[in-house]
Amino acid sequence: MQNKKAIIAIDGHSSCGKSTVAKDLAKELGYVYIDTGAMYRTVTLFAMRQQLIKDGKIDEAALENNLTEIHISFKYQPEEKKNETFLNGESVEEEIRGLEVSNNVSAISAIGFVRRRLVELQQEMGHEGGIVMDGRDIGTVVFPDADLKLFMTASAEIRAQRRYDELTAKGEQVDFDAILENVKQRDHLDSTRDESPLKQADDAVVLDNSHLNKEQQLEWIIDVLKERNLA
Ligand code: DC
Repeated sequence: MQNKKAIIAIDGHSSCGKSTVAKDLAKELGYVYIDTGAMYRTVTLFAMRQQLIKDGKIDEAALENNLTEIHISFKYQPEEKKNETFLNGESVEEEIRGLEVSNNVSAISAIGFVRRRLVELQQEMGHEGGIVMDGRDIGTVVFPDADLKLFMTASAEIRAQRRYDELTAKGEQVDFDAILENVKQRDHLDSTRDESPLKQADDAVVLDNSHLNKEQQLEWIIDVLKERNLA
């Protein structure tokens, strides 16, 4: 029996399975799941399509001028049991997960005006509670008063292997070393950027899932929620 509709913030390193756990948890609790990484990826795709990124350099002035033209929405697709991300009404779920977007997203997510806009949208989406939101700054910036803050991590090699498996399962031709490099580079960029760097909130609970399966992680989190009368 749940006591209240909580706000659950899940932050942590890239590719450590945050979204899988967040989705499972939202389903278990009957909550809404919001993937904030998908929002940064969608802005990145928009910038790529508008040719605002050239050799890793971003035309920030043009992006800022176009920011209000970016409408991001999510829809749960019951047949496929998955969340789909939309950019101005078009499904971009597949495209935002590709390596090209992954390679550019850290630079886009380091821009202050992009972060301010997306944080505002995220706060609107979650203010009523009953939400599981995952990202990098959810417990520190978006919802500093979240009822539960989880900080997830796993070794870079294990995360790269998971990402490799995910992409090859979709038929993408990828190189493990390139993925490992991308994971490490994103860790570095995410935790050293000036704007809202990835850092563990003081009151976050750490979950290192290097050697835990999905079920064990969910069980672990539900136990923490029960201790807090949130599940
Ligand atoms: O979780 P992900 O790998 O899909 O996130 C994509 C990128 O977006 C990642 O490099 C970090 C960034 N991000 C962020 O800066 N803040 C968030 N709340 C979520 C993601």
